[in-house]
Amino acid sequence: MNYKVTIKDKDIAFDVAMGMTILESAVRQNIDYPQGCLSGNCGACKSVLHSGEVELSPYSEFALSAEEKERGLILACRSVPWSDCEISPIDDDEAIVHASRQLECEVTGIEQATLDIKIVRLKINAGGPFDFSAGQYASATFRDLPPRDFSMANLPGDNILEFHIRLVPDGAVTPYVLNELKIGENVHVRGPYGTAYYRESHPGPIIAAAGGSGLAPIKSIVSAIFARRAEQPIALYFGVRDERDLYLADYFEEMSKAQENFKFIPVLSEPSGETKRRTGFLADAIAEDLSGNMFGLDGYKAYLAGPPIMVESTVEKLKLLGLERNDCHADAFYTEADKKNLEEKA
Ligand code: FES
Repeated sequence: MNYKVTIKDKDIAFDVAMGMTILESAVRQNIDYPQGCLSGNCGACKSVLHSGEVELSPYSEFALSAEEKERGLILACRSVPWSDCEISPIDDDEAIVHASRQLECEVTGIEQATLDIKIVRLKINAGGPFDFSAGQYASATFRDLPPRDFSMANLPGDNILEFHIRLVPDGAVTPYVLNELKIGENVHVRGPYGTAYYRESHPGPIIAAAGGSGLAPIKSIVSAIFARRAEQPIALYFGVRDERDLYLADYFEEMSKAQENFKFIPVLSEPSGETKRRTGFLADAIAEDLSGNMFGLDGYKAYLAGPPIMVESTVEKLKLLGLERNDCHADAFYTEADKKNLEEKA
């Protein structure tokens, strides 16, 4: 048995087979719909349920808060219809859809960034050009391993993709990438995905917060801002445990000397010795710097990427300081183990 799902004001309707999610069915029928993780973690497919009934399978509170659920919002990737439904993706100030691409790439660079992060560069040999917005991610398949999501650190339009890949101990993919990947290997890349991308029409101040390899999408966003010669103030906070976990610090320090409107603030949460750097949690450092702001955070936007705990706590602090949730564009990096825990907790 099928249910009919209609996308309000779009004149689009499609059938969803019993037990299947709305997004899964839309994708199978080549219907463009905002999407990201497909697992209830990112919030990219958040939608208004105008009519009908759905059953929501487990998802992260970060992707859909209790208050949003109360207001009738759903995640299309976790919603199994129990009747015909009418839905619409939530309005975004600058919604974009890039053509989905399947790229054949070749590894052209592998660089040790920290003890557990490598910067991997891939040349696009076929399937390009790869159009995306700074801050988005793609799914990469190495050899016959399962696909994994990594954010692009390069500028949109470059023929070389740059991924910052952190070792997930006991992971099925990253130990291979960190320990065995060789120059010249072929990698299949599919994308782009994600909604935590740079909003080009926003002229106000920007808070960019990265934790660990979350620096990749933030680097792409900062580079895109400077490529457009935009002049808004940008403060990049980079949270890591210790000095040895910092990477690309020289790159951003040079940038802050060259660009008056750019500040780079590394924050160490567990320094192993004396340090002149900021210390503590990233969220607290940001809150400390912004709490004296007379005009609140009106007109600001924040871009955040990194471990879920860092992203979620920083978003909470920013909300307390008055930043609207809609102005926080966040990409929390859930590992496969995080996703599994989420399923088990539900
Ligand atoms: S695609 Fe639905 S929450 Fe990420």
